[in-house]
Amino acid sequence: MTPRIFCAVDTADPAQAMKLVRQLSGLPLHFKLGLEFFTAQGLAGVEKIRAVMSGKAELFLDLKFHDIPNTVAGAVRSALEANPQFLTVHAAGGSAMMRAAVEVVHTVSRPPKILAVTVLTHLDEKDLASVGQSVPVAGQVLRLARLAQESGVDGVVCSPREIEMLRKNLGRDFLLVVPGIRPAAAAADDQKRTLTPEQAIALGADYLVIGRPITESADPSAAARQILAV
Ligand code: C5P
Repeated sequence: MTPRIFCAVDTADPAQAMKLVRQLSGLPLHFKLGLEFFTAQGLAGVEKIRAVMSGKAELFLDLKFHDIPNTVAGAVRSALEANPQFLTVHAAGGSAMMRAAVEVVHTVSRPPKILAVTVLTHLDEKDLASVGQSVPVAGQVLRLARLAQESGVDGVVCSPREIEMLRKNLGRDFLLVVPGIRPAAAAADDQKRTLTPEQAIALGADYLVIGRPITESADPSAAARQILAV
């Protein structure tokens, strides 16, 4: 099967982002823009990237909203102007906040999917304890993912090591979008636990998020084609 892949465009430089998206535009890839790009370039910058994406490519605006429900609802409303297919919120913002985000996207005819971020992957058990959450990381991930599902969110962003547990507990229809993916031949960079695209898909990932193995390759298009060929 052809994996569904978001290429993470992690740069604040619009020319660099545009060049990359152009280089990859003939391929069946989707694109993720995050806080780095959005903080520097705003919605106007996102529109420029949209303009060079192929018609079939989906846009994942990964802004990880986390605020009171009214403010998140307003932020989601503003983000809808970019016509994204995916948006992110922090599950730790609570059920009312997630429901507010879901409610706003359902005011448009083709609502983007809302994904929740559970426990950021740089946090370990000690870090959780230091913010008053003395629980195993996996338990906290499952608790937040369940809360997200109950709140009407479409899926979660999760690490490769969480795919199996979440798929088993949350059913086939809950989307699992997975970064931390490395083709067998690629460097791990700063990702600690990685899976290959084939492994992640076999475990039940719906979408993969892949950045540097494509974006830092001397030939991004060739690197992406190699990944898509699995
Ligand atoms: O370059 P690389 O493939 O590591 O990029 C992964 C992308 O996924 C980056 O945009 C990063 O911010 C994002 N991400 C991640 N780990 C998470 C959540 C998001 O690497 N737990």
